[in-house]
Amino acid sequence: PLETTQEMLKKAQKEGYAVGAFNVENMEMAQAIISAAEEMKAPVMLQTTPSTVKYASLGLYYANVEALARNAKVPVAIHLDHGSSFELAVQAIRAGYTSVMIDGSHEAFEENIALTKRVVDVAKPNGIPVEAELGKVGGKEDDLDGGTGGYTEPLEAKEFVERTGVSSLAVAIGTAHGVYAGEPKLDVERLKEIRKVVEIPLVLHGASGLSDEAVQSCIREGICKVNFATELRIAYTEGVKAVLTEKPKTIDPKAYGKAGRERVKELVKNRISVCKSAGKA
Ligand code: 13P
Ligand code: ZN
Ligand code: NA
Repeated sequence: PLETTQEMLKKAQKEGYAVGAFNVENMEMAQAIISAAEEMKAPVMLQTTPSTVKYASLGLYYANVEALARNAKVPVAIHLDHGSSFELAVQAIRAGYTSVMIDGSHEAFEENIALTKRVVDVAKPNGIPVEAELGKVGGKEDDLDGGTGGYTEPLEAKEFVERTGVSSLAVAIGTAHGVYAGEPKLDVERLKEIRKVVEIPLVLHGASGLSDEAVQSCIREGICKVNFATELRIAYTEGVKAVLTEKPKTIDPKAYGKAGRERVKELVKNRISVCKSAGKA
């Protein structure tokens, strides 16, 4: 069934694993993710960014995920990823989303706090957890250009969490959205320092392209949610391409949709193992 991320992330924090959070673009990807989670008996989060929401609508993604979650034997959450405004976060909550991120990381410290707090003040009374971001995750996610630099400062993180009342915090420790040119160097020491002064669940963005060991070392140091997006897009598109290349006369969207879906499902099962959330549903 559809759940909020409050208990889901608290349980992950207590038991030392991470919930996999997977970006969806279409119905087939949503089916693939939920079916992978069921096979792995893992709690799971499906999330959409502002540009994805623009492609279809909050209501359409919510309807897909809710219909799939209704009969699922694992907890499922639908989350707004990189929420770009107060208005969009509120619309997502109204549409039924069970978790939202407000991404004020492009703002200065005080402005990020003010924006985040505004969202928390609306979300909390509705029982909806809020993820925020402090510091800058590199690369380009969606329409937001993260740019470079700006790792999360532990003491700023502590103050940010206390003043905003957020439920979880995305940290910048050297990851970037998209695939990496080389193996990125993660500042796990910094993560440890943040963990010492921040009690809420911490979130890792930009996991596509990280080694299993890198993801797991972050989980050991307090990451409770790991975001995967680019890898799923690649898997889906490769599945579709394989069918269209092998049988160029294909006109049935079900034929290539199914192939994309299968690739995404295999990938998600693997990432759930890496996150150690298998069997935690
Ligand atoms: P990747 O595209 O690198 O997997 O990043 C995912 C992410 O952080 C989504 O918010
Ligand atoms: Zn992200
Ligand atoms: Na990445």
